[in-house]
Amino acid sequence: MLWTIFLLLILVFLYSTRTRQKNEPPLDKGFIPWLGHALEFGKDAAKFLARMKDKHGDIFTVRVAGKFVTVLLDPSSFDAVMNDTVCLDFTRNRNQLRQRIFSLQLQSIKPTAERKWMELHFQGLGLSKLSGSMNSHLQNLLLSDQQGCIPSEWRQDGLFSLCYSLLFRAGYLTLFEKPDNVTAVYNEFRKFDDLLTKLARSSVKREERKMANISRERLWELLSPNWLSGGSESNCWQQSYRHFLKEEGVDAEMQKRALLLQLWTTQCNAGPTAFWLLGFLLTHPEAMEAVKSEIRGLTLRDTSLQHNPPEAHSTPVLDSVLSETLRLTAAVMIRREVVQNKILHMANGQEYHLRQGDIVCLFPFLSPQMDPQIHQEPQIFQYDRFLNDMTVKDKFYKDGKRLKYYTMPWGAGTNICVGKEFAVTAIKQFVYLLLTHLDLEMCDPEAKMPPVNPSRYGFGMLQPDGDLQVRYRLKRTQHANRI
Ligand code: HEM
Repeated sequence: MLWTIFLLLILVFLYSTRTRQKNEPPLDKGFIPWLGHALEFGKDAAKFLARMKDKHGDIFTVRVAGKFVTVLLDPSSFDAVMNDTVCLDFTRNRNQLRQRIFSLQLQSIKPTAERKWMELHFQGLGLSKLSGSMNSHLQNLLLSDQQGCIPSEWRQDGLFSLCYSLLFRAGYLTLFEKPDNVTAVYNEFRKFDDLLTKLARSSVKREERKMANISRERLWELLSPNWLSGGSESNCWQQSYRHFLKEEGVDAEMQKRALLLQLWTTQCNAGPTAFWLLGFLLTHPEAMEAVKSEIRGLTLRDTSLQHNPPEAHSTPVLDSVLSETLRLTAAVMIRREVVQNKILHMANGQEYHLRQGDIVCLFPFLSPQMDPQIHQEPQIFQYDRFLNDMTVKDKFYKDGKRLKYYTMPWGAGTNICVGKEFAVTAIKQFVYLLLTHLDLEMCDPEAKMPPVNPSRYGFGMLQPDGDLQVRYRLKRTQHANRI
């Protein structure tokens, strides 16, 4: 026993004594042995990485809980990471996270097969089927939630709850087709989602771990389709997913657990995005007026729009509002493990050696998205930032060079988000329906947007710390030219 502790101490000591070698990025180990910067990183990754960027520049290596993480913040050099599938690997980290968060092992599935299966459903013909179903569910839920209310009566709610609940439930009905337990699934999922970042960082306390386990098990049961326990099969997305898993050699228990992963992947980002988007519109009246005016213009040109909301139409203003919202609130961390020593060629000609076993991490939220050299006054919401007259603005520069990546909410390269079109369509449908069916306003006209919950940096869409109270009621006439 003593020998084991002694050996462990030597290992920790040896690992702590890592020094920067020639041509390696600046190394910042922090003061705490082994942990390094883990606490600061977990508390507010954006603040910590901004501090490191000021200190070291666009590339540096930090120690985080025993791992050495090289952070690259120069968007012109991102392709050197994203296009390398030989020295850099994304599957190990992904598998680790799946195990920690979802108690799930899907190692037998080839990542390319998984992606192909997703593309089949969320792109092309599959996409229009799902988007049509999503639109009907959104419309039905919006109207049924108002049933029993006097039309002229205002109802009050937090905007985050309103958006998350509606988009989540419509998404669940579209993909899982189980109307009997939709509210129970939503409520349980929100509890689980609140613990997600802690589970991912393995920083849950004992009580929280218990709660997470209970929640996870309850969700597995709720999501289990009737046909898993011998009931009749339906021809839905979920069933096709199960067939796919079976063919890839996944056992019945893991098939059941994988449904929670799918629920999270497909439902965790759209609701929060819609919240930020509508929140920005409500707190920026000129932006709200520009979007409403665009919707009025659409319906004047196309009277069938009432039944065919705007995804098929050109909506440059709403598109710019969505891009600007995502620029400010999409904060994914793209991580790869270095599986072979690699020389990273930066766009400015510099070369850095990356060591096998380290992690490379891109954090597009800091740059390009919040980079003042690319976007003027990056903290400010400017609804027309991505608009040239009435066309999309896609020319952005840094140091005089045009950028390929000027905002990156969907990731890029081989792992770019499979659900991008589905998500964009759903969010646009949702905003359109809400603005055309409801009178919506802030309870306090002077209210500001709530701050960001800083523990969510690195996990996709940010969520607010608190909510924005709104009141709403059904419009007397649901027609877009009355908005
Ligand atoms: C606003 C909504 C969404 C945002 C901002 C978003 C963002 C992202 C990002 C940044 C990645 C890349 C992660 C990485 O490279 O490590 C990603 C991957 C992915 N997204 Fe989304 N996503 C959204 C909605 C959706 C939806 C609705 C689906 C449902 C189909 C989806 C399915 C996926 C899948 C399957 C991947 C993994 C792709 C792969 O590894 O090949 N996403 N998403």
